[in-house]
Amino acid sequence: MNIVLGVSGGIAAYKAPDLVRRLQDTGAAVRVILTPNAARFVSPLSLAAVSNHGVVVEQWGDPSSGGVDHIEIARWAQLLLVAPATANIIAKLATGIADDALTTYALAHRGPIAIAPAMNTFMLGHPTVQQNLATLRARGVHVIEPDAGLLACGDEGAGRMPDPEALAARAAAILGPRDLDGVAVLVTAGPTREAIDPVRYISNRSSGKMGYAIAEAARRRGARVVLVSGPTALQPPAGVELVSVTTAEEMHREVMARAAASAIVVKAAAVADFTPVEKAEQKIKKKDGVEALQISLRKTPDILAALGALPVRPFLVAFAAETNDVESHARKKLEKKGADLIVANDVSDASIGFDSPQNEVVVIGRDGWIERLPKAGKAVIAERILDIVVAKRARGSK
Ligand code: PMT
Repeated sequence: MNIVLGVSGGIAAYKAPDLVRRLQDTGAAVRVILTPNAARFVSPLSLAAVSNHGVVVEQWGDPSSGGVDHIEIARWAQLLLVAPATANIIAKLATGIADDALTTYALAHRGPIAIAPAMNTFMLGHPTVQQNLATLRARGVHVIEPDAGLLACGDEGAGRMPDPEALAARAAAILGPRDLDGVAVLVTAGPTREAIDPVRYISNRSSGKMGYAIAEAARRRGARVVLVSGPTALQPPAGVELVSVTTAEEMHREVMARAAASAIVVKAAAVADFTPVEKAEQKIKKKDGVEALQISLRKTPDILAALGALPVRPFLVAFAAETNDVESHARKKLEKKGADLIVANDVSDASIGFDSPQNEVVVIGRDGWIERLPKAGKAVIAERILDIVVAKRARGSK
């Protein structure tokens, strides 16, 4: 894979050397073009060192060499990734302005283009920026949604450039396989909430990141994706049908209603195993002299086991969230629930699993087959899990 990384002048430009490395990790060769403003945030010399190529900053190239840089690079490149993409460069790309090396190159580039907008959240929400993004999307440019969080300017909201690892996974996927073309994939994600009274509930720490990453990766690989999600703070990936649920029972109903139409089901949701027997109609009040409160719980439907017991069932990928003896517990769940694969993560490690942007998993098959996926961003883990699913289905292994 030959990738041109275009860097424009935002604070996230400092991540460019790491992004070059992460792109190289996916097997890509990378050449870098900087806008003059980007060169104020990140040194062309560092980028030349990590990319093993000269870095283009000047529009008019090197007078001592015969070729026109941007045309030569365009012959070589398969993908242009602009990260970070400022409001300024987004506007220029949308309107065809070519007043520096990067924007000139963009007009000469022949393959797919991906951009990672990164800016202040109010700038991102400005109608002009949104209109320019819509123009680029309509032209087939892959717009990689920014992350939300605390921004360099101190504001909070959407506008952060995603991790270099996640961007690299997106770039690889754009150039990568469409090996799930037209395949119906159902993914569950996030926690469920089991109400105690109108203001309290039992739940868990699932953020939905793992399941959403799988839904997004499956969509990119061409699948028709239904995402059955418990309550999360995440934006559903573009092109995915979102079915929002709150309780385990609702998730059970929505998943079972779609099971027959699904070729693959990935159960990344952290479903509550128990729910209160009774939900109080009114907020439960403290009473003088009463020091303890007992809440009776009953089991929720086991959605995975119900899917595994279907006479004709989809290819079933379970997850196992374990705090000890991860592999042996996961193997038992795989057997008991009749899944084809189980993806086990150690949720006692705070750097992976629940709510972390990263995960580290062991994927186990029914025949004892096992593969360990080292710690990586959830976008990367999602791609690797789908690689395994595609390979196992192709071999007809159940
Ligand atoms: O959402 P994130 O913050 O990104 O975190 C990701 C994750 C840790 C939630 C995810 O990687 C994960 O491990 N998901 C499964 C969590 C879980 O509920 O594991 P479990 O071992 O309790 O359940 C085993 C399997 O049975 C899971 O596929 C679960 O979806 C399913 N299950 C469980 C209970 C139930 N009533 N019905 C089910 O289908």
